[in-house]
Amino acid sequence: MAESLYIPASATKAEKYQAILPQVEALIQGESDTYANLANVAAVLKEAFGFFWVGFYLVKGEQLVLGPFQGPLACTRIGFGKGVCGTAWKEAKTQLVPDVEAFPGHIACSSASKSEIVVPGFREGKVWIVLDVDSDRLDDFDQDDVAYLERLMGIVDLHS
Ligand code: SME
Repeated sequence: MAESLYIPASATKAEKYQAILPQVEALIQGESDTYANLANVAAVLKEAFGFFWVGFYLVKGEQLVLGPFQGPLACTRIGFGKGVCGTAWKEAKTQLVPDVEAFPGHIACSSASKSEIVVPGFREGKVWIVLDVDSDRLDDFDQDDVAYLERLMGIVDLHS
């Protein structure tokens, strides 16, 4: 297993994603424990990008339940269709939210969170998990984040 992460200095965001994706795959494909893998993926994203909050919510029955994350204390349970995470689950689709205050029903775990992206993961065609990334700056995510985080979740779906 890789024990250190290589992130090119002064790289663009896209270059950083390109550098970390194969490392994430190498890191998690040799480990069968889902929580161990999710914990390391959250750590890699935090280290590479310094996101304000990054972590996972896992589908458990009728709710999403907080999984491994990096960042401040967070809400533990989110209902189907509730908030940005519950909407990503219900619609089975990535949610890109430039301004959380403009998203009806946004759940504010922290008042410092200003923009957010939530990417669902799929097993046997069903959402089993969502990746949630929050920024303390408005409009901090773009289509690069959508594309690369969706690829990352494809790796997580296969190997976690
Ligand atoms: N803002 C999310 C809740 C989770 S926290 O941001 C970590 C939402 O609206 O679903």
